[in-house]
Amino acid sequence: VYEVIRVYGGRAFLLPEHLDRLARSAGGIRLEVPMETGPLASAVEDLIARGRLDCGMVYLQLTRGRAPRNHVFPRARPTLLFYLRELPPPPPTGGEAVRLLSVADERWRNCWIKSIALLPNVLAKNRAVEAGCDEAVFIEEGRVSECSASNFFAVAKGTLITAPAGEKVLGGITRAAILEEARRLGVKVEERSPGEAEARAADELFIASTTREISHVVGWDGKPAGGGRCGPLTRRLHKSLRRRIESAQARRR
Ligand code: PDD
Repeated sequence: VYEVIRVYGGRAFLLPEHLDRLARSAGGIRLEVPMETGPLASAVEDLIARGRLDCGMVYLQLTRGRAPRNHVFPRARPTLLFYLRELPPPPPTGGEAVRLLSVADERWRNCWIKSIALLPNVLAKNRAVEAGCDEAVFIEEGRVSECSASNFFAVAKGTLITAPAGEKVLGGITRAAILEEARRLGVKVEERSPGEAEARAADELFIASTTREISHVVGWDGKPAGGGRCGPLTRRLHKSLRRRIESAQARRR
């Protein structure tokens, strides 16, 4: 299992939330995180300080450890590793303009586990890129679940719609922060998988992840979508997320 954590101003953003999800993912595959949350959080922050990383990410990976190949869980010491990478900050309001390609959802029913077994996601993403798109959007039984490496949001008549985290959707940390911001702003939120036709006709579409923050969707399967621009609610939610990022930096300096 793994985590990708954003670093802004030399601090890990939403670190407790990421470490909670790591513990849930590990529990989902009957693996224990070999460190308590407090010391692990300190170790991550220490690495950021030692690496003098200002803006970037931490990649953290937990596996069962070194052992001869076997399907049976080994009696090995788990391997927990994390490293830093510099990343430029995403464009401020509305992020990147992205185009989606629909791909049938062939993944397992435990997508809430942030597992490094990402083959269907990788294949889907590559099909999207080969088609001149930026992200693959998974469709199952006419409903939109999420994208290959991001959560999917639609705005229809001022209501924010996104699929509930669970079998087919990762509980994105960015997704949760956006939903909190939306509720705080008094935006109506519906956690349900939007129908494909409904999503294609939505007033605004965007995707969200740790590395992207928010990217507004302008095209889908070669046709304009999400109004073909960054919509006003998308812009508002991104501004609100950015304020939260900035206040987290200021608080923790
Ligand atoms: N991807 N859904 C999937 C399938 C993802 O892989 C990701 C994140 C998300 C968004 O989750 P979060 O907001 O916690 O980043 C949703 C990361 C960034 C990656 O694999 O690089």
